[in-house]
Amino acid sequence: MINIKIPATSANLGAGFDSLGLALSFYNYVSIGEADGIFISSLDDTIVPEDESNLIYSAAKTLYDICGRRLHGLCIEQTNNIPIARGLGSSSACVIAGLTGANRLMGEPLSLDELVNLSAQIEGHPDNTAPALLGGIVTAVFDGNSVHWVKQEVFTTLKFVVAVPDFKMETEKARECLPENVTHKDAVYNLSRAALFSVSLLTGKYENLRTAVNDRLHQPFRMPMIHKGREVFDAGYSLGAYAVYMSGAGPSIMMIAGSENKLFSGKLRFLLDSMGLEKWTVYDLDIDNTGTVIL
Ligand code: HSE
Repeated sequence: MINIKIPATSANLGAGFDSLGLALSFYNYVSIGEADGIFISSLDDTIVPEDESNLIYSAAKTLYDICGRRLHGLCIEQTNNIPIARGLGSSSACVIAGLTGANRLMGEPLSLDELVNLSAQIEGHPDNTAPALLGGIVTAVFDGNSVHWVKQEVFTTLKFVVAVPDFKMETEKARECLPENVTHKDAVYNLSRAALFSVSLLTGKYENLRTAVNDRLHQPFRMPMIHKGREVFDAGYSLGAYAVYMSGAGPSIMMIAGSENKLFSGKLRFLLDSMGLEKWTVYDLDIDNTGTVIL
């Protein structure tokens, strides 16, 4: 069996819709090996499909097919720490686990670039799949065939504190509410801010982050789908966050806080409770610069 560790990801980073994402210190673990049938088990209480529709299995099978290799079956054991359908890259983590596992089992026929491309083709969003594979902050453009990407390691003491609601939001549904067209002015609003985010994070100009995460392409349209989402944003800023944005397609809300703001996550927990959001979970995370690792 091959053991794989895959990080959660936070896509969009506010204005960088479908193009920016970063990896976080929060992991799924997958063991995978060839077998004479399909044997899939979840090692925690997450219910996962135990047939061909399992995302790890189907991604692995795709790679076997592409390589012209016959797959008799797989044994998959998965530990699913990343909450499902919360905007933290749980499906990307499964796709990456299936692809990297299959690639290793077949003797590494695909290069890293090919894995970046194939994972984006399968999952549809390189802003989740690329950082899950590569770690750090990734800028990615998917031209329909291949992904043009740059990964940068981020050396920072910033904390990424995420408030995770107790309800799911499927990406497909969260994309249905987006407008077909946007104005030239709104396009410029977003592209300037997306460009500002990475360089501000990488150069330590954290005071820019609040401006950089504002966007007009997705967050305003998705926000009404998150019960008390606006209040949670405000709570983050009231506690002194540098920036607050919707992680991926939501519904989780990410807050970037300085390390000197030591009590940030505890205070956030207290505020969420006082808002009646006791069922939301708070995770205090760092950026993961390594990406997926075969252990
Ligand atoms: N960029 C995608 C979206 C991320 O916001 O819909 C979801 O995987």
